[in-house]
Amino acid sequence: MAKRTIIVLPGDGIGAIVLEQAIRVLNAAGFDAEYIHGDIGWDFWRREGNPLPGRTLELIEKHKIALFGAITSKPNDEAKAELNPSLQGKGFTYSSPIVGLRQYFNLDICVRPCKSYKGNPLNFIKRGKGNTIEEPLIDVVIFRQNTECLYSGVEWTNPPEKVYQAFLTHPKFRENFGQVPVEELSISTRIFTKKATSRILMAAFEHAKKYGYKSVTVCEKPNVIRETSGLMWKLAKEIQKNQFPDIKLINTNIDAQMMWLTKNPEDYEVIVAGNMFGDIASDGFAGLIGGLGFACSAQFSSDGIAVFEPTHGSAPKYADFEVSIVNPIAMIESACMMLDYLGEKAICQTIRKAIADVIIEGKIRTYDMMKMQGRPEVIQNGAASTVQMTDAIISKLKK
Ligand code: NAI
Ligand code: MG
Repeated sequence: MAKRTIIVLPGDGIGAIVLEQAIRVLNAAGFDAEYIHGDIGWDFWRREGNPLPGRTLELIEKHKIALFGAITSKPNDEAKAELNPSLQGKGFTYSSPIVGLRQYFNLDICVRPCKSYKGNPLNFIKRGKGNTIEEPLIDVVIFRQNTECLYSGVEWTNPPEKVYQAFLTHPKFRENFGQVPVEELSISTRIFTKKATSRILMAAFEHAKKYGYKSVTVCEKPNVIRETSGLMWKLAKEIQKNQFPDIKLINTNIDAQMMWLTKNPEDYEVIVAGNMFGDIASDGFAGLIGGLGFACSAQFSSDGIAVFEPTHGSAPKYADFEVSIVNPIAMIESACMMLDYLGEKAICQTIRKAIADVIIEGKIRTYDMMKMQGRPEVIQNGAASTVQMTDAIISKLKK
């Protein structure tokens, strides 16, 4: 295949550390690519007053594919205090560059696979019949709508008069909140559009079809949140009936899903949800497969922009260890999602098999896999460093 161009966005803290390791693995596995660095993160906020400079957006726009590490976000007062003195008081306000990326490119589809590796000591176990211990292997892919719902930012405390009047036209609002002083009202809106809801559903069904999953579960709460969750469920039924009749459609409520998560997680395959419930469900399932050291993700727009990243953040408290201890697997898995997207199936499988081999062999384990507290001493106590884990994966590639 032709040489690819990938924009790499290391960002802050351990983001930069794990991204470097993922590129080592990609190179060792024979992925033919040119990597172009994109500026993003805290340093650029401090120096330029913008953690997501326009030149980075242009690079992503041009080359379409980005591998992202993680960024650091801090509260507004800290952000202001750390801004370069020459920029202070000039109206710069901090906003998260990852949220900025999502909005700028309308990365409305977020995919978070949660698949357990055999032999991972962090795998979920449960009690089976006769007090036996069972370790169900989990293979769930969560499709989370990434731009709407309760996270769209349409909210008020002490809403303006026009908004308040509009709310008063709703009988339930009048009845239950009509007596509340307006300055004591905080309102966050849950917005779903037909277009974006259809897109996330289609993406989930197409994924199920492509990879041979037999069911798609809509995880919302349509019996209570009738308009928004109800829209997703209604569209899901139509799409399933008209386009994917061979795929089973399941309806779960988010609260019950969180309970079933530990009762029968092996029964779920592709799960699709709005922004907030998708966020909750994906963290829930990630916990069953080892947590942040293993949780990878991808985000897609409708016009061909794709950003691949671990779900963890920049873990600043581990960023400056002389020997890095964090688990690079979530980042390497995110790079595998990129390979899969690019159609580089063979390289993708080789890397995933190498990770599986290292985990099942059980000789090399990062501190999280050994359930240690994240301190520099974990290395003396037998945990593998970030680089050692990567080396182990690379050594398995060659076999
Ligand atoms: P975090 O994900 O950075 O770290 C939380 C804890 O998870 C760590 O203290 C560590 O115990 C563990 N952890 C994270 N990554 C790990 C890895 N690869 N291997 C082993 N253990 C790992 O979340 P936190 O501490 O809430 O946020 C730190 C910074 O990251 C904040 O500034 C936050 O805004 C930012 N953040 C950025 C994200 C992004 O770039 N997409 C996502 C989440 C947080
Ligand atoms: Mg989250």
